[in-house]
Amino acid sequence: MIKKAIAVMTSGGDSPGIAAARAVVRTALSEGVSVYGINNGYQGMLDDDIVELDSRSVSDMIQRGGTFLGTARSMEFKTPEGRKKGFDNLMKHGIEGLVIIGGDGSLTGGSLLSKETGIPIVGLPGTIDNDVWGMDYTIGCDTAANTIVDAINKLRDTASAHRRIMVVEVMGRNSGWLAMMAGIAGGAEYVLVPEVKYDLDEMCHELKAMYDAGKRYSIIVIAEGAGSGVGLGKVVEEKTGIDTRVSVLGHIQRGGSPTVEDRMKASMLGEKAALAIISGATNLVFGFNEGKVVGVNLFDAVNNKKTLDPELVRLARVLA
Ligand code: F6P
Repeated sequence: MIKKAIAVMTSGGDSPGIAAARAVVRTALSEGVSVYGINNGYQGMLDDDIVELDSRSVSDMIQRGGTFLGTARSMEFKTPEGRKKGFDNLMKHGIEGLVIIGGDGSLTGGSLLSKETGIPIVGLPGTIDNDVWGMDYTIGCDTAANTIVDAINKLRDTASAHRRIMVVEVMGRNSGWLAMMAGIAGGAEYVLVPEVKYDLDEMCHELKAMYDAGKRYSIIVIAEGAGSGVGLGKVVEEKTGIDTRVSVLGHIQRGGSPTVEDRMKASMLGEKAALAIISGATNLVFGFNEGKVVGVNLFDAVNNKKTLDPELVRLARVLA
C-alpha cells in the first residue's frame, strides 16, 4: 500500500493520449497521494528531472497530442548502473511506485527496474503501434489510424482524378497492426506488413489486370517495417506501367488531438493504474481487450510478441 507518493512518466515514441497521465495525477491526488512527473522519460529519471504535479499541472491537456512530460530514448538506462542511478533519484523524492506510459521498449525498461530494485511498477500501453502483448488496443493507435485514414481519403481524390496507384507508407517498424487497421478502414487494395510475405510480381500483375478492366485507381498501404514506400512505388510503376505516386506519412501519424476513443480509454486506464499501484499492486500493464479493461503481467507483456490477427490479414484481402 502506497501512502505518500507515486510518479508518472512517458517514454519512447509519444502517442496521442496524455489523458492517461492526467487521470493518474488526478486519481492519485483524490486518494491523498502525491504525484511526481518525470520529465523526458528514463533520461529525466537519470537527470533527476522530477517535479511534483498538482491538479492544475494537467489542466488543458485532455485535447492535446504529444506529452507535456516529454519523452526520450536513453542509452544509459539500458545499463544496470543507469537503472540504479534512476532508482536512487526516485528514492530522493520519496517515490514509492511508478506508472510508466509507453510501448514495448519502455515497458521492458520498467520490468528491469522492477526486477533489480523492487520498486512497484504499473505500465500503460502508450504507443501508436498497437503491438503490446495481451491486449487489442494501445493508447494513441486509434488517433493515428484515423490520421492515416484521413490521408487515404484525400489521396483517393487525386488518385482517382489521374488514374494513379498511390503507395502510402505508414509507421510500424516491427508491427503491421497500425497499417492493417488503417488499410482496412481506408479501403486499401493491398496492405503490406512485416509479418506477411508478399509476392510483388503477383500484386503488380493483379493491379495491371484491374486497370485494364477499367479500375480508376488503387491504394497500397505499406508499413515501414515491410519495406520502403518509395522503393515499392518505383518497382510498381516499372512493373505495371501505371503512373504511381508515394506518400510517406511519417511523424504526422504520431501527432494531433486524440480521438474520443483514445481520450476515454486513456482516462479509464490511467485511473485503473493509479488505483492499482496505490493499493500495492505491481508488475501489471493495464489495457483493453475485447472491450474490457485487463491487467496483464508486466513480464508476460514484454516477453511475448503480439502477433498480427490472421483474420484481419484475410479480411483485408477479401475486401480489396
Ligand atoms: O514505436 C512507435 C513508432 O512510432 C514506430 O511506429 C516508428 O517506427 C518509430 O516510433 C519512429 O521513431 P522515431 O520517432 O524515433 O523516429
